[in-house]
Amino acid sequence: MNPSPPKAIDRLNDRLESSGPVILPALLLCDFGHLAREVEALEKAGAAGLHLDIMDGQFVPQLTYGMVVVEAVRRATALPLEVHLMVQEPERSLADYAHAGVDIITVHLESLVEPRRTLKMITSLGPKAHLAVSPRTPVQHAVPFLDCCDGVLVMSVEPGYGGQAFEPESLLKLAELSKLRDGGAGAFRLCIDGGISTHTVGPAAAAGAELIVAGSAVIRASSYAEAIAHLEQLARNAA
Ligand code: DX5
Ligand code: ZN
Repeated sequence: MNPSPPKAIDRLNDRLESSGPVILPALLLCDFGHLAREVEALEKAGAAGLHLDIMDGQFVPQLTYGMVVVEAVRRATALPLEVHLMVQEPERSLADYAHAGVDIITVHLESLVEPRRTLKMITSLGPKAHLAVSPRTPVQHAVPFLDCCDGVLVMSVEPGYGGQAFEPESLLKLAELSKLRDGGAGAFRLCIDGGISTHTVGPAAAAGAELIVAGSAVIRASSYAEAIAHLEQLARNAA
């Protein structure tokens, strides 16, 4: 009997371990009129996984999409999927996203009443649990929960919109988190989201970022493949 193929998340981890930081394109600015085509194009272009921005019009001003679209993306690709929940009361939809087959669920510390409970709920459902911190949230606020998350997502723009300018203070946060991890605070992946470009990807990787979300830098490029390869190369050279 053939062994079953590795799970999407294991493939992502293998790629990280063997080659260094990876780029996760964010779908936010893609052509939703041709969603399956976009997903296929990103997969062909070498994306290590996809980042899906879920906004509820309350936690952040913009409203994007939810389950129906996530399910459609899941059907269109076997790539690892991360849902970045910028919503109030994320607990209400965790089981649905897990059942839809996403690999990483990222929740915002600012949206959680009992962060430990929510993070454990995610892992008990199957996906990896990542904790996001907005630019104005100090790393210290996340420290009590670092032992129960699989990743920490440093937001390098105010959550809510693609195409904003990178906030350099986020580099200090990555470095602080990396130091905390070295000191035994947890076994989490370091992730960054917002304003990633050919100028900012190197410094982010040098500060420790492993999963690097890139929206406009990929989607607005003339070639997805060239944009992903270039960003990944710059990240790896700097890591
Ligand atoms: C912002 C989102 C990001 C966004 C990134 O709230 O979380 O994922 O899509 O877009 P860029 O890379 O253009 O800042
Ligand atoms: Zn995001």
